[in-house]
Amino acid sequence: MTNELPAIRLRDFAAPDVDAVLALWRRADAVARPTDRPDALLKRLAHGDDLFVVATADDQIVGSLIGGWDGWRGGLYRLAVDPSVRRRGVGTLLVREVEARLRRAGAERVPIRVFFGEPGAVTFWESVGYRPDRDEAIFVKDL
Ligand SMILES: CC(C)(COP(=O)(O)OP(=O)(O)OC[C@H]1O[C@@H](n2cnc3c(N)ncnc32)[C@H](O)[C@@H]1OP(=O)(O)O)[C@@H](O)C(=O)NCCC(=O)NCCS
Repeated sequence: MTNELPAIRLRDFAAPDVDAVLALWRRADAVARPTDRPDALLKRLAHGDDLFVVATADDQIVGSLIGGWDGWRGGLYRLAVDPSVRRRGVGTLLVREVEARLRRAGAERVPIRVFFGEPGAVTFWESVGYRPDRDEAIFVKDL
C-alpha cells in the first residue's frame, strides 16, 4: 500500500462540473450564498470560463476559485478546498493562478470579501498577501 497523495491539477471550469462544484462548496462548509445554484454557475460560465478555475485530484474536483474582471477592478469569489486536501497549498495554487490570469487581463488591484464565519480564512488570505482595508466599508443590496 502507498500513502502517496494524488497530484493536484488546475483546469478551467466547464458545464459538466456544476454539480461537483456545488457539492464541493457544501463539503468545504463554505458560507452558503444566494448564488450557490446551477443556473447561477451556468450564467457565470456563459460570461466566460477563463477566470473560473477548478483544482482536481484523481479527476475529482477538490478546489474552486472564481475570478472577476470588469475592466476596472479584479475580484476573487468562492474559494473552497476539499477538507481532505487542505494545508497542501491547493488554495494558494488557485489564488496564484487566477491572480496571474487577472494580471494578464489588465487588473492591478483585487478587493476581496473575507467571511469572518470561515475558520482560517483571514489567516489564509493574509498568507497570500491580502490585508484588511481600514478606509472602506462594503455596502450591498440584493437585486
Ligand atoms: C481557506 C481555504 C480555502 C484554505 O485552503 P488550503 O488549500 O488549505 O490553503 P493552503 O494550503 O494554500 O494554505 C496556505 C496558508 O494559509 C493559512 N491557512 C490555511 N488554512 C488555515 C486554517 N484553517 N487555519 C489557519 N491558517 C490557515 C496557513 O498559513 C497556510 O500555510 P501553512 O499550511 O504552511 O501553515 C480552505 O480552508 C477552505 O476551503 N475553507 C472553507 C471555505 C473558505 O473559508 N473560503 C474562503 C472564503 S473567504
